[in-house]
Amino acid sequence: MKTRNRGLACAALLFWMSGTAFAAGEAGLARDIERGRYLVTLGGCNDCHTPGFMEKGPEVPEGQWLTGLGIGFSGPWGTTYPANLRRIVASITEEQWMVRARVTRLPPMPSYVLQSMTDEDLRAVYRYVRSLGSAGQDAPAYVAPGGKVDTPFFDFVPQVEQRSAHAGH
Ligand code: HEC
Repeated sequence: MKTRNRGLACAALLFWMSGTAFAAGEAGLARDIERGRYLVTLGGCNDCHTPGFMEKGPEVPEGQWLTGLGIGFSGPWGTTYPANLRRIVASITEEQWMVRARVTRLPPMPSYVLQSMTDEDLRAVYRYVRSLGSAGQDAPAYVAPGGKVDTPFFDFVPQVEQRSAHAGH
């Protein structure tokens, strides 16, 4: 009887401990998600990875954040499209993200921003994006220099104002 009581007390203690550990884990996740949101905001990720964000800023509903852009960025590197991070993050593990997010990408992706983040911060970004869930379609595929671009695109080739031969005379 005595042993049984001790067993019960032990089980109750374990149950209580697992509850607190679970609560601590939940609080940690909530903190990471909040930090991830903060880093994404500071990193300007939405400007490129969210449709309409360059024009409207944070007015764009969070449900649409980081769903990728169908407008290309064309330059000497070809035409790149800001990826749909919501779909990518939903389809890979956190460990896969830790490697993939640090790969140097083509312009104008500021790869150095993700490469400068601590492991902790990069994980927070993953947890935040994952908390938003998968949404939208994959961004269009990269087009090599000289290839045919079927979508609207921003021209990243520096322009020089063309003046007529008589201008200023
Ligand atoms: C100036 C525009 C721009 C900004 C700002 C930007 N990105 Fe990107 N990002 C791109 C483009 C364009 C690509 C595609 C590059 C390529 O095709 O090589 C890309 C690709 C990526 C990829 C690779 C996706 C894959 O296929 O695995 C990740 C991850 C990523 N961006 C995350 C971010 C995060 C997080 C931020 C904010 C810190 C950010 N980006 C800010 C334009 C941008």
